[in-house]
Amino acid sequence: MEQVKVLLEDHEIPKQWYNIVADLPTPMKPPLHPGTGQQVTPDDLAAIFPMNIIEQEASARRWIDIPDEVLQKYLLWRPSPLYRAYNFEKLLNCPVKIYYKNEGVSPAGSHKPNAAIPMAYYNKVAGTKRIVTETGAGQWGSALSMATQMFGLGCRVYMVKISYEQKPYRRMMMNTWGAECIPSPSNLTQAGRNVLAEHPDSPGSLGIAISEAIEEAVTTKGSRYALGSVLNHVLLYQTIIGLEAQKQMKKIGVYPDVVMGCCGGGSNFAGIALPYVCDKIHGKKVKLVGAEPSSCPSLTKGPFAYDFGDLAKTTPLLPMYTLGHDYIPAPIHAGGLRYHGMAPIVSHLVREKFIEARAYDQLKTFDAGVKWARTEGFIPAPETNHVLAAVVDEAMRAREEGKEKVILFNWSGHGLVDLSAYDAYLSGKLQAYELPDEEIARALRSIKDFPKP
Ligand SMILES: Cc1ncc(COP(=O)(O)O)c(C=O)c1O
Repeated sequence: MEQVKVLLEDHEIPKQWYNIVADLPTPMKPPLHPGTGQQVTPDDLAAIFPMNIIEQEASARRWIDIPDEVLQKYLLWRPSPLYRAYNFEKLLNCPVKIYYKNEGVSPAGSHKPNAAIPMAYYNKVAGTKRIVTETGAGQWGSALSMATQMFGLGCRVYMVKISYEQKPYRRMMMNTWGAECIPSPSNLTQAGRNVLAEHPDSPGSLGIAISEAIEEAVTTKGSRYALGSVLNHVLLYQTIIGLEAQKQMKKIGVYPDVVMGCCGGGSNFAGIALPYVCDKIHGKKVKLVGAEPSSCPSLTKGPFAYDFGDLAKTTPLLPMYTLGHDYIPAPIHAGGLRYHGMAPIVSHLVREKFIEARAYDQLKTFDAGVKWARTEGFIPAPETNHVLAAVVDEAMRAREEGKEKVILFNWSGHGLVDLSAYDAYLSGKLQAYELPDEEIARALRSIKDFPKP
């Protein structure tokens, strides 16, 4: 019998998150206040986030203790299993060993609760009564709905309209966990009304939904906003994935040559990659690869620039790879990857050449996802299919180079609530989307006068 899973006992769960900011060889550019052009201060963010989270966002402390209340909730499904994908390896017939962290075992079905639970906890401690957020495919919204329920907080989620329509089951999950879910753009906010006035049929985007959620959070007493990706504190909470993986790989005496993840705002990829980036900074040889959609290729086609995180320009200016804040991505099924920008930490590490990025079309990603389901059994989320396409690619490269490789990747979530996407793919209704260069040029005109990082 071959060992398929590497498990950690409850007591072996990491007790601290890892903050890469403490180890960066070159400092990151700071977020800027759009009005003054100066670095944002904690007070600038106080209407949006509670101060305990703002402190973590700005922290340069290497290790941050995970509160006992958060650990106790994590233990519902963590430590997540590390698997060896023997059957997929056999199908590919390349000189690779493939390991993956299965984040689909969380109650909401993805890595998102790793960040939702600490956010709900810190808000509760700070006296917040209710959290407002946005969601793409519904993974983040459902994770936060569950987490807020666990800590006795209210929750409203603005869900990108195209996904709200394509994925009714995610809304039902949010409702089951006691949250409200509103299709965005909506008539409930000025940001939503502005979009609807110009584009009554807008499919929505994460950038629009973020604007709606922030507007409501800052204008409603007792409410705060939560973002499911992109920001430093979100990436910090996700590092539990890579920290567990390091312990698990150590148990079997294996070190990866390549670490991979799919990239929307960057949080699950960073979660598995950042502890390995730390190793790389300290001299280890390891390749880190992020996989994004070719219809929303911020890392592979966007410039590194200051840009807003949302359409209505309510966030600070973030230094990141971006396609422009008014870029509306094509309605691909990987709703969680339809975001115009990329986490400043991931962007910085790509710029400094610690991380590589590759882009894949949705047809190629579903091809990899279906192969995976037919060999390994678990049906991946459409977002996760992007990293699977990258894994296939990497395995083929190993064969061409005649080199043996150990690949570790983050299996960010299951696709059991995304079966309509598989149905469309299997019946030949899915389209390939490449981003026309004129569209990038158009969207980038919106940021041409911003400060340059
Ligand atoms: C399953 C899954 N994977 C990946 C992502 C992409 O987000 P991030 O880049 O923050 O991990 C999402 C976002 O919703 C998701 O639901």
